[in-house]
Amino acid sequence: MEHRSVETHFTDLHAGRTLTPADLDEEYAHRSPETPASAQTTRWVRANFVSSLDGAISVEGRSGALGSMGDKTVFHRLRALADVVLVGAGTARAEDYGGAVISAQDRGARTARGQAPVPPIAVVTGSGRIDADSRLFSGEVPPLVITSKTAPTERITPLRKAGAEVVIAGDDAVDPHAMIAALTERGLPRVLCEGGPHLFGDLIDTDLIDELCVTTSPHLVAGRGGRMAASSADALRRMRRTALLTDQDGFLYTRWVRDRSQQ
Ligand SMILES: NC(=O)c1ccc[n+]([C@@H]2O[C@H](COP(=O)([O-])OP(=O)(O)OC[C@H]3O[C@@H](n4cnc5c(N)ncnc54)[C@H](OP(=O)(O)O)[C@@H]3O)[C@@H](O)[C@H]2O)c1
Repeated sequence: MEHRSVETHFTDLHAGRTLTPADLDEEYAHRSPETPASAQTTRWVRANFVSSLDGAISVEGRSGALGSMGDKTVFHRLRALADVVLVGAGTARAEDYGGAVISAQDRGARTARGQAPVPPIAVVTGSGRIDADSRLFSGEVPPLVITSKTAPTERITPLRKAGAEVVIAGDDAVDPHAMIAALTERGLPRVLCEGGPHLFGDLIDTDLIDELCVTTSPHLVAGRGGRMAASSADALRRMRRTALLTDQDGFLYTRWVRDRSQQ
Protein backbone atom coordinates (compact mmCIF):
# COMPACT_ATOMS: atom_id res chain seq x y z
CA MET A 1 0.00 0.00 0.00
CA GLU A 2 1.32 3.44 -0.96
CA HIS A 3 2.55 5.55 1.95
CA ARG A 4 0.75 8.92 2.29
CA SER A 5 1.99 11.54 4.72
CA VAL A 6 -0.44 13.84 6.49
CA GLU A 7 1.74 16.92 6.08
CA THR A 8 4.00 17.66 3.15
CA HIS A 9 7.58 18.75 3.68
CA PHE A 10 8.90 20.59 0.65
CA THR A 11 12.60 20.71 -0.11
CA ASP A 12 14.13 23.30 -2.40
CA LEU A 13 16.55 21.30 -4.53
CA HIS A 14 18.45 24.45 -5.61
CA ALA A 15 19.13 25.66 -2.09
CA GLY A 16 19.03 22.23 -0.40
CA ARG A 17 16.74 23.48 2.37
CA THR A 18 13.32 22.61 3.73
CA LEU A 19 10.58 25.15 3.02
CA THR A 20 8.04 26.46 5.49
CA PRO A 21 4.54 27.38 4.23
CA ALA A 22 5.63 31.06 4.25
CA ASP A 23 8.66 30.17 2.09
CA LEU A 24 6.25 28.46 -0.31
CA ASP A 25 4.31 31.70 -0.82
CA GLU A 26 7.56 33.56 -1.46
CA GLU A 27 8.62 30.81 -3.89
CA TYR A 28 5.40 31.30 -5.85
CA ALA A 29 5.14 35.11 -5.59
CA HIS A 30 3.52 36.71 -8.63
CA ARG A 31 6.60 38.05 -10.31
CA SER A 32 9.67 36.90 -12.08
CA PRO A 33 12.45 36.32 -9.51
CA GLU A 34 14.38 39.35 -10.83
CA THR A 35 11.56 41.75 -9.98
CA PRO A 36 11.84 43.33 -6.52
CA ALA A 37 9.13 42.26 -4.07
CA SER A 38 8.05 45.88 -3.72
CA ALA A 39 7.23 46.19 -7.43
CA GLN A 40 3.54 46.39 -8.26
CA THR A 41 2.41 43.35 -10.18
CA THR A 42 0.69 44.12 -13.42
CA ARG A 43 -0.73 41.41 -15.67
CA TRP A 44 0.64 37.98 -14.84
CA VAL A 45 -0.79 34.81 -16.37
CA ARG A 46 0.25 31.68 -14.52
CA ALA A 47 -0.84 28.16 -15.42
CA ASN A 48 -0.77 25.18 -13.09
CA PHE A 49 -0.95 21.51 -14.07
CA VAL A 50 -0.22 18.10 -12.61
CA SER A 51 1.26 15.59 -15.03
CA SER A 52 2.37 11.97 -14.87
CA LEU A 53 5.95 11.03 -15.77
CA ASP A 54 4.75 10.00 -19.24
CA GLY A 55 2.91 13.29 -19.79
CA ALA A 56 -0.68 12.27 -19.00
CA ILE A 57 -2.81 14.93 -17.31
CA SER A 58 -5.77 12.72 -16.53
CA VAL A 59 -6.67 9.20 -15.50
CA GLU A 60 -10.14 8.14 -16.61
CA GLY A 61 -10.95 11.72 -17.53
CA ARG A 62 -9.93 13.45 -14.32
CA SER A 63 -6.71 14.68 -12.78
CA GLY A 64 -7.35 13.63 -9.15
CA ALA A 65 -5.48 10.29 -9.29
CA LEU A 66 -2.27 12.13 -10.20
CA GLY A 67 -2.39 14.45 -7.21
CA SER A 68 -1.12 14.22 -3.65
CA MET A 69 -1.20 16.15 -0.43
CA GLY A 70 1.75 18.24 -1.67
CA ASP A 71 0.10 18.96 -5.02
CA LYS A 72 -3.05 20.03 -3.20
CA THR A 73 -0.96 22.33 -1.01
CA VAL A 74 0.61 24.06 -4.02
CA PHE A 75 -2.79 24.17 -5.78
CA HIS A 76 -4.34 25.95 -2.80
CA ARG A 77 -1.34 28.29 -2.32
CA LEU A 78 -1.62 29.37 -5.97
CA ARG A 79 -5.37 29.98 -5.57
CA ALA A 80 -4.74 31.97 -2.40
CA LEU A 81 -2.34 34.24 -4.32
CA ALA A 82 -4.47 34.71 -7.47
CA ASP A 83 -6.94 37.48 -8.33
CA VAL A 84 -8.96 35.09 -10.51
CA VAL A 85 -8.96 31.39 -11.38
CA LEU A 86 -9.37 30.89 -15.14
CA VAL A 87 -10.54 27.55 -16.49
CA GLY A 88 -11.83 26.12 -19.74
CA ALA A 89 -15.43 24.90 -19.75
CA GLY A 90 -14.21 21.37 -20.62
CA THR A 91 -12.26 21.19 -17.38
CA ALA A 92 -15.05 22.82 -15.36
CA ARG A 93 -17.43 20.15 -16.69
CA ALA A 94 -15.02 17.19 -16.29
CA GLU A 95 -13.90 18.16 -12.80
CA ASP A 96 -17.29 19.47 -11.59
CA TYR A 97 -15.81 22.81 -10.60
CA GLY A 98 -17.08 24.67 -7.55
CA GLY A 99 -15.96 28.02 -6.14
CA ALA A 100 -12.56 28.59 -4.54
CA VAL A 101 -12.30 27.90 -0.81
CA ILE A 102 -9.96 30.29 1.01
CA SER A 103 -8.94 30.01 4.67
CA ALA A 104 -9.49 32.81 7.19
CA GLN A 105 -5.73 33.41 7.37
CA ASP A 106 -5.42 33.67 3.58
CA ARG A 107 -8.40 36.03 3.43
CA GLY A 108 -6.56 38.35 5.80
CA ALA A 109 -3.40 38.23 3.70
CA ARG A 110 -5.40 38.81 0.52
CA THR A 111 -7.22 41.79 1.97
CA ALA A 112 -3.90 43.26 3.15
CA ARG A 113 -2.61 42.92 -0.44
CA GLY A 114 -5.69 44.75 -1.75
CA GLN A 115 -7.28 41.59 -3.18
CA ALA A 116 -10.85 40.38 -2.69
CA PRO A 117 -11.08 37.74 0.07
CA VAL A 118 -12.00 35.01 -2.44
CA PRO A 119 -10.95 34.86 -6.11
CA PRO A 120 -13.80 34.22 -8.55
CA ILE A 121 -13.71 31.32 -11.00
CA ALA A 122 -13.79 32.52 -14.62
CA VAL A 123 -14.99 29.86 -17.07
CA VAL A 124 -14.17 30.20 -20.77
CA THR A 125 -16.79 28.83 -23.13
CA GLY A 126 -17.65 29.24 -26.79
CA SER A 127 -20.83 27.18 -26.65
CA GLY A 128 -22.20 28.45 -23.33
CA ARG A 129 -22.71 24.79 -22.42
CA ILE A 130 -22.50 25.26 -18.66
CA ASP A 131 -25.09 23.94 -16.25
CA ALA A 132 -26.65 26.79 -14.25
CA ASP A 133 -27.37 24.22 -11.51
CA SER A 134 -23.72 23.11 -11.29
CA ARG A 135 -21.46 23.60 -8.25
CA LEU A 136 -19.93 26.61 -10.01
CA PHE A 137 -22.92 28.66 -8.94
CA SER A 138 -22.94 27.55 -5.32
CA GLY A 139 -19.56 29.11 -4.48
CA GLU A 140 -19.15 32.07 -2.17
CA VAL A 141 -18.60 34.48 -5.05
CA PRO A 142 -20.40 34.24 -8.39
CA PRO A 143 -18.42 32.97 -11.37
CA LEU A 144 -17.47 34.92 -14.46
CA VAL A 145 -18.42 33.38 -17.79
CA ILE A 146 -16.11 34.50 -20.59
CA THR A 147 -17.52 34.02 -24.05
CA SER A 148 -17.96 35.67 -27.45
CA LYS A 149 -20.74 37.67 -29.12
CA THR A 150 -21.90 34.60 -31.04
CA ALA A 151 -22.55 32.45 -27.95
CA PRO A 152 -26.18 31.24 -28.01
CA THR A 153 -28.35 33.65 -26.00
CA GLU A 154 -30.57 30.80 -24.80
CA ARG A 155 -27.55 29.27 -23.05
CA ILE A 156 -26.03 32.50 -21.71
CA THR A 157 -29.21 34.04 -20.27
CA PRO A 158 -29.76 31.29 -17.64
CA LEU A 159 -26.12 31.64 -16.54
CA ARG A 160 -26.61 35.37 -16.06
CA LYS A 161 -29.84 34.71 -14.15
CA ALA A 162 -27.97 32.22 -11.93
CA GLY A 163 -25.62 35.04 -10.94
CA ALA A 164 -22.71 34.81 -13.40
CA GLU A 165 -21.08 37.95 -14.69
CA VAL A 166 -20.90 37.40 -18.45
CA VAL A 167 -17.84 38.86 -20.13
CA ILE A 168 -17.85 39.17 -23.91
CA ALA A 169 -14.29 38.89 -25.18
CA GLY A 170 -14.36 38.52 -28.94
CA ASP A 171 -16.79 38.48 -31.84
CA ASP A 172 -16.94 34.98 -33.39
CA ALA A 173 -14.67 33.30 -30.83
CA VAL A 174 -13.09 34.16 -27.50
CA ASP A 175 -10.03 36.30 -28.17
CA PRO A 176 -7.43 35.43 -25.49
CA HIS A 177 -5.91 38.94 -25.53
CA ALA A 178 -9.35 40.53 -25.09
CA MET A 179 -10.10 38.01 -22.33
CA ILE A 180 -6.98 38.83 -20.30
CA ALA A 181 -7.50 42.57 -20.92
CA ALA A 182 -11.09 42.27 -19.66
CA LEU A 183 -9.91 40.56 -16.46
CA THR A 184 -7.21 43.19 -15.93
CA GLU A 185 -9.77 45.97 -16.44
CA ARG A 186 -11.88 44.36 -13.69
CA GLY A 187 -8.95 44.59 -11.28
CA LEU A 188 -8.00 40.91 -11.75
CA PRO A 189 -4.52 41.03 -13.35
CA ARG A 190 -3.02 38.04 -11.49
CA VAL A 191 -4.57 35.20 -13.42
CA LEU A 192 -4.22 31.55 -12.40
CA CYS A 193 -5.13 29.30 -15.33
CA GLU A 194 -5.94 25.77 -14.17
CA GLY A 195 -6.26 24.44 -17.71
CA GLY A 196 -7.35 22.59 -19.49
CA PRO A 197 -5.34 21.79 -22.58
CA HIS A 198 -7.38 23.79 -25.11
CA LEU A 199 -7.43 26.96 -23.05
CA PHE A 200 -3.74 26.58 -22.16
CA GLY A 201 -2.93 25.88 -25.83
CA ASP A 202 -4.67 29.11 -26.85
CA LEU A 203 -2.74 31.07 -24.21
CA ILE A 204 0.56 29.59 -25.43
CA ASP A 205 -0.38 30.23 -29.04
CA THR A 206 -1.06 33.91 -28.28
CA ASP A 207 2.08 34.14 -26.09
CA LEU A 208 0.11 35.21 -23.02
CA ILE A 209 1.65 32.69 -20.61
CA ASP A 210 4.07 34.29 -18.16
CA GLU A 211 4.56 31.25 -15.96
CA LEU A 212 3.87 27.55 -15.76
CA CYS A 213 3.86 25.55 -12.54
CA VAL A 214 4.03 21.81 -13.02
CA THR A 215 3.64 19.07 -10.47
CA THR A 216 5.27 15.93 -11.81
CA SER A 217 3.50 12.96 -10.31
CA PRO A 218 5.56 9.79 -9.88
CA HIS A 219 3.22 7.64 -11.97
CA LEU A 220 3.15 6.13 -15.42
CA VAL A 221 -0.29 6.23 -16.99
CA ALA A 222 -0.24 5.39 -20.73
CA GLY A 223 -3.89 5.28 -21.88
CA ARG A 224 -5.43 8.00 -24.00
CA GLY A 225 -5.35 10.95 -21.61
CA GLY A 226 -4.23 14.14 -23.31
CA ARG A 227 -1.19 16.26 -22.60
CA MET A 228 -1.10 19.71 -21.03
CA ALA A 229 -1.60 21.82 -24.15
CA ALA A 230 -3.49 21.45 -27.41
CA SER A 231 -3.77 23.86 -30.32
CA SER A 232 -4.13 23.63 -34.08
CA ALA A 233 -0.56 24.80 -34.77
CA ASP A 234 2.75 24.26 -33.02
CA ALA A 235 4.17 27.13 -30.95
CA LEU A 236 7.66 27.25 -29.46
CA ARG A 237 8.04 29.42 -26.36
CA ARG A 238 11.29 29.49 -24.37
CA MET A 239 10.82 29.12 -20.61
CA ARG A 240 13.30 29.41 -17.77
CA ARG A 241 13.15 27.32 -14.62
CA THR A 242 12.91 29.35 -11.42
CA ALA A 243 11.98 26.72 -8.85
CA LEU A 244 12.67 23.05 -8.33
CA LEU A 245 11.08 21.48 -5.27
CA THR A 246 10.40 17.96 -4.12
CA ASP A 247 8.63 16.33 -1.19
CA GLN A 248 8.86 13.16 0.83
CA ASP A 249 6.36 11.43 -1.50
CA GLY A 250 8.64 11.79 -4.53
CA PHE A 251 6.63 14.48 -6.37
CA LEU A 252 8.52 17.24 -8.21
CA TYR A 253 7.32 20.85 -8.31
CA THR A 254 8.78 23.11 -10.96
CA ARG A 255 8.09 26.72 -11.77
CA TRP A 256 8.92 28.04 -15.24
CA VAL A 257 8.85 31.70 -16.29
CA ARG A 258 8.58 32.88 -19.90
CA ASP A 259 11.94 33.98 -21.23
CA ARG A 260 11.00 36.73 -23.67
CA SER A 261 14.67 37.46 -24.39
CA GLN A 262 14.55 34.28 -26.44
CA GLN A 263 11.97 32.76 -28.76
N1 LIG B 1 -3.80 17.51 -14.81
C1 LIG B 1 -4.22 18.74 -14.77
O1 LIG B 1 -3.59 19.58 -14.11
C2 LIG B 1 -5.43 19.15 -15.54
C3 LIG B 1 -5.82 20.50 -15.57
C4 LIG B 1 -6.95 20.85 -16.30
C5 LIG B 1 -7.65 19.90 -17.01
N2 LIG B 1 -7.24 18.61 -16.97
C6 LIG B 1 -7.99 17.58 -17.71
O2 LIG B 1 -8.22 18.04 -19.03
C7 LIG B 1 -9.43 17.45 -19.51
C8 LIG B 1 -10.31 18.53 -20.13
O3 LIG B 1 -9.72 18.88 -21.34
P1 LIG B 1 -10.36 19.96 -22.31
O4 LIG B 1 -9.54 20.05 -23.53
O5 LIG B 1 -11.83 19.74 -22.42
O6 LIG B 1 -10.09 21.25 -21.45
P2 LIG B 1 -10.44 22.79 -21.57
O7 LIG B 1 -9.42 23.53 -22.36
O8 LIG B 1 -10.66 23.19 -20.17
O9 LIG B 1 -11.85 22.83 -22.27
C9 LIG B 1 -12.08 22.99 -23.62
C10 LIG B 1 -13.38 23.74 -23.72
O10 LIG B 1 -13.24 24.98 -23.00
C11 LIG B 1 -13.76 26.03 -23.75
N3 LIG B 1 -12.62 26.80 -24.24
C12 LIG B 1 -11.31 26.60 -23.99
N4 LIG B 1 -10.58 27.55 -24.59
C13 LIG B 1 -11.45 28.34 -25.22
C14 LIG B 1 -11.32 29.51 -26.00
N5 LIG B 1 -10.14 30.06 -26.25
N6 LIG B 1 -12.44 30.05 -26.52
C15 LIG B 1 -13.65 29.54 -26.24
N7 LIG B 1 -13.83 28.44 -25.50
C16 LIG B 1 -12.75 27.87 -25.00
C17 LIG B 1 -14.56 25.39 -24.84
O11 LIG B 1 -15.81 25.13 -24.21
P3 LIG B 1 -17.22 24.97 -24.93
O12 LIG B 1 -17.21 23.54 -25.40
O13 LIG B 1 -18.21 25.23 -23.85
O14 LIG B 1 -17.28 25.95 -26.05
C18 LIG B 1 -13.79 24.11 -25.11
O15 LIG B 1 -14.57 23.10 -25.71
C19 LIG B 1 -10.10 16.77 -18.32
O16 LIG B 1 -9.84 15.40 -18.41
C20 LIG B 1 -9.37 17.35 -17.12
O17 LIG B 1 -9.31 16.45 -16.05
C21 LIG B 1 -6.16 18.20 -16.25
